[in-house]
Amino acid sequence: AYLGIDIGTSGCKALVLSPEGEILATHTAAYDFDRPQFGWTEQDPRVWIEGARTSVANVLRTVPADRIVAVGLSGQMHGFTPLDREGQVLRPAILWNDQRNAAEAADIVEMAGGPDALLSMTNNDMLTGYTAGKILWMQRKEPGLFEKVAHALNPKDYLRCILTGEYATEVSDASGTGLFDVRRRSWSGDLLSKLPFDADMLPECHESDVISGQVSRSGAELFRLAPGTPVIGGGGDSVIQTLGTSVVRPGALQTTIGTGGIIAAALTSPADNPEGRLQVFCNVAPDLWHCMGVSLNSGASLAWLARLLGADDYAALVTRAAEVPAGSEGLVFLPYLNGERCPHPDPTARGAFVGLTGRHDARHMTRAVMEGIVFAFYDIYRLMARMGIKKSLIKASGGGARSDLWRQMQADVFGCPVVTTLGAAEGGAFGAALLTGVAHGTWSDVVEAAKVCRDLSQQTPDLHASETYAKAFDIYADLYPSLRPSFD
Ligand code: XUL
Repeated sequence: AYLGIDIGTSGCKALVLSPEGEILATHTAAYDFDRPQFGWTEQDPRVWIEGARTSVANVLRTVPADRIVAVGLSGQMHGFTPLDREGQVLRPAILWNDQRNAAEAADIVEMAGGPDALLSMTNNDMLTGYTAGKILWMQRKEPGLFEKVAHALNPKDYLRCILTGEYATEVSDASGTGLFDVRRRSWSGDLLSKLPFDADMLPECHESDVISGQVSRSGAELFRLAPGTPVIGGGGDSVIQTLGTSVVRPGALQTTIGTGGIIAAALTSPADNPEGRLQVFCNVAPDLWHCMGVSLNSGASLAWLARLLGADDYAALVTRAAEVPAGSEGLVFLPYLNGERCPHPDPTARGAFVGLTGRHDARHMTRAVMEGIVFAFYDIYRLMARMGIKKSLIKASGGGARSDLWRQMQADVFGCPVVTTLGAAEGGAFGAALLTGVAHGTWSDVVEAAKVCRDLSQQTPDLHASETYAKAFDIYADLYPSLRPSFD
C-alpha cells in the first residue's frame, strides 16, 4: 500500500491507499501556526514532524508498516525553512500566507530587470507569498543568522530530509519559490544570477513522480516505517490535489472552496501567463503543467457572515439561503475582505455589498456571499480563458463542495456540469498516495491513476439561473474597477 503525508497549515494528514485504489486509513493531527506580528505567519518545523509522527502512527495501527511499499509527500507551498550545514533549523519557517516581505518581492522584480524580464525567466510574477522574498527578507533583517543558512527547504521537503537525510525537492513546489523556470523545469539560473543570495542553498530538484531517497535508519526509528522504504518527490498541496480530483488533462477545471479558494487546470504545455496574474507551475507529471488562480476570500467570506449573524450551523444558514432565488434579488457581494491575490493582486482591496434594499434579509446576504465567491472563481477563469483553458466540466473539492446549493451555483455560473469525485475531500495526502502508486508502477501514469477518482455526484446547469447569473456577473465584474479609488 502507499502512504501519502500532507504537511498542511492547520494539520498533518496521513493516508494509506491500496493498489486497488481503496483508501485504507486516514488520520489528521491538528496544529496551529504562530502570528508573531500583524501579517506574519510562522511555524516551528518540529510541529510538522510531530504532526506527521502522530498521523503516521495512527494509520499504521490499521495498515502495518511492512505493507507500506512507498511514501509520497505533499505540503503547504511557498514556505521557507532555513537550515544550517548540519540540517539544524535556524528560525521558525515563514509560511505561504505571511505578508512581511512585499518590499523584498518588489525588489526582486527590479533586480530581475522588471516584470517582463521576470516573466520571461520564470513565467510567473513575484507574489509576496512566494519563497524568494522570504529568503531576501531574512538576508536583510537577520544577516547574522542568515550567514549560517546552507539549505532553504519547503515544508514537505523538510519532512523528506528528516525521513531520508536528503536535501531535495520536486518541480511543483520548486515552481512556488518564484525562482524556478517552469518552462524548462529547472532552477532559473538567469534569475538566480541577479539575486544577492547564494543559489547553492536551493535543494536538488527532481520530477515529482521519481524516487528521491529511502527512509533512513533514523527516519525509520522516528516514524516506525521500514528502513529503505522509497520516498517519492510528491508535490505542493494545491498542485498535487488536482491529481486527487482527476484534473490531469485539459478540459476539466478544479475548484476548491476552503478558507481561500483555488481554481485550477492542467496544461500540456507551459502556456504564457497573462501579465503574470495567474500561477503557472510545473505539474506532478513530466509532460504536464498546472495553472491556478488563488482567491484569499472564499470560505473565509461565508465564515465572516456566519460570525456576523451569530450562526454556528453553516448547514442551516445555507438551507435558508436556498429559499431566495438565484441572483439574490439584485444583491451582489464583492468578497475581497482580506485584500485579494487574483485576478487583482491588491492587498488593499476591500469587500462590498451592492444593491441592498429594505426587502433583503439575512438569507439574501448569505446567498449573495456564496454567489460572490463563485463569481470570484469565474472572474479568475476569464484570465484562464485567455490562455485557451476550456470549461467543459468542474470537479468540486474543499469544504464548500459539500453544499449542493454551492455546487449548483458553480454549474449555473460556469454553464457546465459539476461533479464530485472519490477522495477529493482528502486533499494533498490522497494525491500524494496516488502519485506514489505511479512511481511504484501500479498505474502507468497520472491519467491511469486518476481513474481511481470516480464520480460520486453530478449536477448540470439550469439555463434560467445561468441567464440571471450572467447579468449579475456583469455587475460584479465592474465592482472592483469602480470601487478601486475608495480602497486607499
Ligand atoms: C498556493 C497557496 C496555498 C498553499 C497552502 O499557491 O498559496 O494553496 O499551498 O496550502
